[in-house]
Amino acid sequence: MARILTGIQSSGRPHLGNILGAIQPAIELSKDPANESFFFIADLHSLTTLKDGQLRHEYVKAIAATWLAFGFDTERNVFWRQSRVQEHTELAWYLNCFTPYPMLANAHSFKDKSERLADVNAGLFTYPVLQAADILLYDANLVPVGKDQKQHLEMSKDIASAVNRQVGSEILVLPESRIDERLMVIPGIDGMKMSKSYNNYIDIFLPEKDLLKVIKKIVSDSTALEDPKKPDTDITFQLYSLIAPDEQTQEMRENYLRGGYGYGHAKKALHELILEKFREPRKIFDYYMSNEEELEKILVAGEEKARAVARKTISRMRQALGFGS
Ligand code: ADP
Ligand code: TRP
Repeated sequence: MARILTGIQSSGRPHLGNILGAIQPAIELSKDPANESFFFIADLHSLTTLKDGQLRHEYVKAIAATWLAFGFDTERNVFWRQSRVQEHTELAWYLNCFTPYPMLANAHSFKDKSERLADVNAGLFTYPVLQAADILLYDANLVPVGKDQKQHLEMSKDIASAVNRQVGSEILVLPESRIDERLMVIPGIDGMKMSKSYNNYIDIFLPEKDLLKVIKKIVSDSTALEDPKKPDTDITFQLYSLIAPDEQTQEMRENYLRGGYGYGHAKKALHELILEKFREPRKIFDYYMSNEEELEKILVAGEEKARAVARKTISRMRQALGFGS
């Protein structure tokens, strides 16, 4: 039985990139009866960059509703908010004391954020230690993440090894990352990686008209309507082909190559495809967004399951470190 664990920060509403690149593949893994999945909302991590509590509350709801909309089975697995299980922060403190300062100072993600952001706080610096705590608290074996998280996972492993080496026993389970090198990077409406931080994302849960407005903003070249177009370098086509069945993609490819088919037509087709393909998830998402109490119940039940596992690890750590159990 492999224990799979992953988290998504509540720093914005989930977009098509998060869904195709992280949420759907993780849910696929969770369907294997040999796996047990621990998926959580990293709301404490979001505090490093987002200070507005009301917004955070909205984003936590939206992320939870997205996992449910795409069919994550929260009865068989574990699904919770990081901030509600205090053992995350307790373990993070212990791990801080086993983390060499230069490891954090050299982290790509910290360097990148400290150049980009005005607020360079200590939470941003120790972000990878809290992430290590998230993983090690649950004895996770496999952590599916995108390429950008590779270094964070190596750090989690190094921190766990340091604890095991210095405390003198096999207290923490060393996690394996699962980074699929072929994993697609979904392009945003400007052709860069789709990301909350670039404001170039497609929120598939928007009302129909608002969704169309965003899709109309997808960048395209100036080839005239009647001329043939290059499908493979066009963002609308790329997004369409990530979602459409093969025959439909082939048809769209032929339309591009033939000419007489404009980018406006392609965008309209992409809009229709998103509405059709995600009809069910959109319904479930709206349902949970307007039935907060139900969402809350699911999260509270998950917290209890998570806490039961977390307490065992904390008790092992306390005992080993001389804090009593
Ligand atoms: P963002 O860049 O929007 O802030 P996050 O860093 O919160 O996204 O990523 C959450 C998860 O979604 C991660 O596992 C990440 O690898 C995945 N992800 C984010 N953007 C994309 C994308 N454009 N294509 C594929 N996967 C993505
Ligand atoms: N840092 C991850 C991201 O930005 C989110 C995250 C927090 C995470 N804790 C985790 C991912 C533990 C995997 C395991 O995407």
